[in-house]
Amino acid sequence: MDGEAGHLEGVDLEPTPCTSASPVVVSTRKPRPGDEIELEITGFDARGRGIAERDGMHFSVRRATAGSRVRALVLKRRKSNVEAVVLETLDAGPLAVAAPCAHFGSCGGCSLQSLDYAAQLDGLRAIVSAAFRAHGLAHAPIDAVLPAPSAVRYRNKMEFSFSTRRWIAPDEPRDAPNGFALGLHAVGLHTKVVDIRSCAIQAESADAILATVRALVVERSIPAWDPRLHTGLLRHLVVRVAGTTGEVLVNLVTSTGAPDVIEPLAREIVARHPEIATFVQNVNSRPADTAIGDPGRERVLFGPGTIRERILGLDLHVSAGSFFQTNSAQAERLFEIVREEAALTGSETVYDLYCGTGTIALVLAEAAREVIGFEIVPSAVADARANAARNGIENARFVEGDALDGLAHPDLPAPEVCVVDPPRAGLHKKLLARLAVLGARRIVYVSCHPGSAANDVAELERLGWRVARVRPIDLVPHTPHIECVITLVPRST
Ligand SMILES: C[S@@+](CC[C@H](N)C(=O)[O-])C[C@H]1O[C@@H](n2cnc3c(N)ncnc32)[C@H](O)[C@@H]1O
Repeated sequence: MDGEAGHLEGVDLEPTPCTSASPVVVSTRKPRPGDEIELEITGFDARGRGIAERDGMHFSVRRATAGSRVRALVLKRRKSNVEAVVLETLDAGPLAVAAPCAHFGSCGGCSLQSLDYAAQLDGLRAIVSAAFRAHGLAHAPIDAVLPAPSAVRYRNKMEFSFSTRRWIAPDEPRDAPNGFALGLHAVGLHTKVVDIRSCAIQAESADAILATVRALVVERSIPAWDPRLHTGLLRHLVVRVAGTTGEVLVNLVTSTGAPDVIEPLAREIVARHPEIATFVQNVNSRPADTAIGDPGRERVLFGPGTIRERILGLDLHVSAGSFFQTNSAQAERLFEIVREEAALTGSETVYDLYCGTGTIALVLAEAAREVIGFEIVPSAVADARANAARNGIENARFVEGDALDGLAHPDLPAPEVCVVDPPRAGLHKKLLARLAVLGARRIVYVSCHPGSAANDVAELERLGWRVARVRPIDLVPHTPHIECVITLVPRST
């Protein structure tokens, strides 16, 4: 969700049918808020909005599909950058397809569903390329985007919100019941939730669990969270379906423990869905709208508290709080690419910085002398160590704490290869400076944010490195997010 407004006063933001008539205001002056303007949409930006160029101005257009011609309303302008929203699609163009999900348009989840998948991949590569050019890295060799094996039913984790404020679609009567919803936030509206009946990117088993939970909660009149008043019991339903084993983890996030309500509910859900391997409850007593529970307040109500994924022959256990790539099938290919780019011979010490539950470290361990993971979240480090032990991997160890402090550790052997997989914000300047002088012969940078990655790569180039290859991978089809594996080598090689 990118914070865009779903309903502007007097403007219907719902997708509009294609027509050829257009009462567009044509003018040679710079567009002003309130103007209507006709635009040819050439692609999409990192927020999933359509982009257009006209009279030296750059337009970012909400709800516009690449390849279409639209009549749009200007919302704001800063210098030569204009924000607009589609009022009418005049010509859907050759790249438009029927969105696979019934909730497309109202749900804030996947903004690119109405764009042909090959065009999505071209647009994602253009986003990576623009980010690298913007940081003076036009010379970076960027591969075509690796497509996902499936663009539907690929996601192994969805976080749904309970709410007392259901989003009412424009084709519903204004007085339709709106006091309960279980689903995803309406596009740009953090207080309204679209009641999701089926989500095209999650597993079918998760759709069935979603329906059961909705029915039971309504039948038992269990109060949903009110995002404005901060009242109610049920806050989030997180469903994880392991992509490789089909095991299901259900995580119910509530505002208080309420065992007399939650335990019988959990028992009934598990009884109706034998595929549920484990059911946990987390309590989030804070006002912040997050599916992360208060520290130390997770309760395992059924099963072991984890589900199993099998990735490249490794048996990995994933708990409710662990980070795990959300597309299991494509994550395997991501890790294979990291392994290729690390180009190990068996004699190397490898650092896996920001290692999470250690998957990359464990995938590389077989081909390395030793792998050392660095991670700040204690439970992730515990998962990483347990995953290493479970798979009989003895040449991997994990250092808990800030990666920057970890690198200052006096007893660690110097690395030949460094893998970094930081959060969206990228690497701290001090860490970049340290990384540059560790003496490695290769840095493999795994990034979920092309802008911060390009910024960091530019800094590493200033510090004596050279970008050798950029390999973008689509992990989340129908969204503008793009993962990249970037290989850097010392400039002298
Ligand atoms: C994108 S995830 C990496 C996941 C991992 N490579 C995997 O594939 O499962 C980023 C990780 O960085 C960790 N992290 C964030 N800040 C950190 C820091 N300052 N030092 C070490 N780890 C940090 C987060 O807890 C998270 O596990």
